[in-house]
Amino acid sequence: MVGAVRLGPLALLLLAASALAHYTPDWESLDARPLPSWFDEAKFGVFVHWGVYSVPAWGEWFWYFWQGEKDADYEAFMRQNYPPGFSYADFGPQFEAKFYDPKKWAEIFEASGARYVVLTSKHHEGYTLWPSPTSWNWNSMDVGPHRDLVGELGPFLREKNIHYGLYHSLLEWFHPFYLLDKENNFTTQNFVKAKVLPEMIDLVNKYKPDLIWSDGEWEAPDTYWNSTEFLAWLYNDSPVKDQIVVNDRWGKDNPCNHGGYLTCHDKYKPDTLPKRKWEMCTTLDKNAWGYRQTMKSNDVMTDVEIISELIEVVTFGGNYLINVGPTRDGIIPPIFEEKLRSVGSWLSINGEGIYASKPWRVQMEKNTTTIWYTTKESDVYAFFISWPKNGVVELNSPVPTYSTKVTMLGLSGLLKWSEGSMGKGLVIALPEFSPSIANMKTWTLKLHKVE
Ligand SMILES: *[C@@H]1O[C@H](CO)[C@@H](O)[C@H](O)[C@H]1NC(C)=O
Ligand SMILES: *[C@@H]1O[C@H](CO)[C@@H](O)[C@H](O)[C@H]1NC(C)=O
Ligand SMILES: *[C@@H]1O[C@H](CO)[C@@H](O)[C@H](O)[C@H]1NC(C)=O
Repeated sequence: MVGAVRLGPLALLLLAASALAHYTPDWESLDARPLPSWFDEAKFGVFVHWGVYSVPAWGEWFWYFWQGEKDADYEAFMRQNYPPGFSYADFGPQFEAKFYDPKKWAEIFEASGARYVVLTSKHHEGYTLWPSPTSWNWNSMDVGPHRDLVGELGPFLREKNIHYGLYHSLLEWFHPFYLLDKENNFTTQNFVKAKVLPEMIDLVNKYKPDLIWSDGEWEAPDTYWNSTEFLAWLYNDSPVKDQIVVNDRWGKDNPCNHGGYLTCHDKYKPDTLPKRKWEMCTTLDKNAWGYRQTMKSNDVMTDVEIISELIEVVTFGGNYLINVGPTRDGIIPPIFEEKLRSVGSWLSINGEGIYASKPWRVQMEKNTTTIWYTTKESDVYAFFISWPKNGVVELNSPVPTYSTKVTMLGLSGLLKWSEGSMGKGLVIALPEFSPSIANMKTWTLKLHKVE
């Protein structure tokens, strides 16, 4: 058109981007963003806590308890095992990751049935598992493995359609800039400008994560962390703006209030249906997130504990993120691998009632055995973890119709059922208990066409 301003392709692109850029840096706007659907559909993820703390292997808060709290047990551990004058930074070169095989990790995660994995890109110790330009001499390329641990895992996960999440701690216990800002009651932002924002932007641009699992927010308000500005950039203009999911740990009053989905506190597990999407994070080693040399086999969750917790969480609309702590060499301890594989083998049969399911109108009922419910399309799934002695399951809440059919996932054929007493619910005759059924550990009934 004659006389019209001509726009080059780049200008058009920028115009298009700004037309779509609609989130403003305040919680009202950011909280209103719909959560990308992959996250709710995924239901199950694996969390990985790995860093320099995996060297002393006494839990991920090692540095803080040893030199922040000066805890006597930690001081004794150091006296007994390391020469005088040994500093926390001296653990860095021993974090060698020499058997780190990200392809093998991705195979284990795939076998677990996880649809997303969250790796600690940086914990409160400040060591980055990628070559961060602003973490000079305290990152995995300069010190320890001399590898980009974050970068190497991503492609293997994506090959298996597993979403890649990065955990990132806002605070660093002993960073001098952070300590300075803290002394100033967080009226200065030296640390945020020099470290936090550049690193988060670097992570997003380099690795294009699907999820940012923020943590370490609790000492300072979100205005100190510039969280709303970061999130507005993330949602409007970043290369991951369409698929990115974030949690709720962006400032000291945020958890359970603001952000993407709710994590509230570690191991959060509500017993009523929350209004917003949430996630329970927990850890296979009940006593720690990072690998511990002194872990005992009975510190580790059992298969039934893991599976029943997964069911319970999904029933109430949550996602379940279960943690493993690899060794400093990059080995996922076989006891963790075994647990992950058992969840995966359970999910390979019962996942139909888990993945992409929705909470039903009733979450849970107690009768002869505890029952949890989910729903998908016109089906309702009923999970139970103890096999009733009389071989009969009574479900009070579902209302049968003329076309109701009942099956058990993993078995062929229809199960016999009758209406419950006083025309309420269903009484279902289970199949005969056999070794192969026992091996399934917990069971899922599929109710087709109930109300
Ligand atoms: C920080 O707050 C404390 C307690 O309110 C106060 O005593 C101190 O003077 C403040 N420091 C600065 C640098 O403002
Ligand atoms: C960070 O927050 C401060 C104070 O809230 C604000 O003045 C500044 O512009 C923000 N910085 C960025 C990069 O958004
Ligand atoms: C269990 O189900 C039966 C039959 O529907 C019912 O009479 C009974 O009250 C139920 N018990 C509980 C604890 O809900």
